[in-house]
Amino acid sequence: MNPKTFSYWTSSTLLISLASLSFVAAKSSSPTQTPPNPQITKNPYGQLADGTRIDSYTLKNKNGMAARIITYGAILTELWVPDRQGQFADVVLGFENLEGYLGESPYFGATIGRVANRIANGKFTLDGKEYTLATNNGPNSLHGGNQGFDKVVWEAEPLEVANGSAVKFNYLSPDGEEGYPGNLNTTVVYTLTDDNELKIEYTAETDQATPVNLTNHSYWNLDGSANILDHELRLAADHYTPVDETLIPTGEIAPVAGTPMDFTRPQTIGSRIDQLQGDPGGYDHNYVLTDKKPSMKLAARVRGPQSGRVMEVRTTEPGVQFYSGNFLDGTITGKYGQVYQKHAAFCLETQHFPDAVNHPNFPSIILRPGATYQSMSVYKFLTD
Ligand code: BGC
Repeated sequence: MNPKTFSYWTSSTLLISLASLSFVAAKSSSPTQTPPNPQITKNPYGQLADGTRIDSYTLKNKNGMAARIITYGAILTELWVPDRQGQFADVVLGFENLEGYLGESPYFGATIGRVANRIANGKFTLDGKEYTLATNNGPNSLHGGNQGFDKVVWEAEPLEVANGSAVKFNYLSPDGEEGYPGNLNTTVVYTLTDDNELKIEYTAETDQATPVNLTNHSYWNLDGSANILDHELRLAADHYTPVDETLIPTGEIAPVAGTPMDFTRPQTIGSRIDQLQGDPGGYDHNYVLTDKKPSMKLAARVRGPQSGRVMEVRTTEPGVQFYSGNFLDGTITGKYGQVYQKHAAFCLETQHFPDAVNHPNFPSIILRPGATYQSMSVYKFLTD
């Protein structure tokens, strides 16, 4: 039994015993007395220094898959997926406990907001007014600033859904937070469906015009292997947005054809990675999806050759950041005692394009009062 399988059974046993002691989440407002949903369990996860309690919600589906999400950062901390033999493993990187996430986390599993990726020099102008954000990544603002949505406490509520189990997270970001205008009321719903999909739906409303670009920052390794260089990737994207040395888009929308950026046909992640320039090297680029429709379409398909696990990513977003874990460098020890080396995992962050606020030729990320920001991404698991 590999260590991951072992810890799965250990943690499952723990979860089952905790579940029998703890409150089994159910909506009590239904007039017909809906029975508690045994697929959702809520457990205490930890405490912040000020005493705020952090909970975890575990969603299960009828095929034995399980997802665990915590109220800190609305972070996906575990996702258990079967391989071609039906063996479950946890396919996302993360920490053993809350302390890990409170430390130097490279956004493992986190909900990212108000604006995913970088804003050049932490500045943008909206309706004639210049806004200044915290610069937390060289000269730029990254992933919402010093205390982005990955570092706030979300309210959680289990939801009744027909084909699986779900939990809704809510966060009201106050006007001026991290330099952004407007009170932004944000919800994120995680659903684990009986079709082996993890669905993440985002909505947001504001009382002043503000940029919004939400995503999830899970780090995936479908094989539980040391690195993902042998994972086969297809990206449904024929263009990408080239970047400068601080990873800010130049504004160009360039074809991938004939370059190491081309994943329109399946290629292993490692096959051409050495041809990329830069330090630390590797993929860290926004891909422009070929299909421009604003509804759901395929963005990516990844296969772990050792396990046969396949993940398909569909989204309503126009882009996806493909990041090959370049900044992981062996300094983080995560779950199950694993030391995360360079390329230990990859991220596929569905999104509008980085620094869109400063590029009028990119699809706009401005949300205005009266409108509702809506975004959905579905990660479907199969074997091959
Ligand atoms: C960015 C990377 C960054 C990583 C973790 C990704 O979305 O594109 O440059 O290092 O997040 O912070």
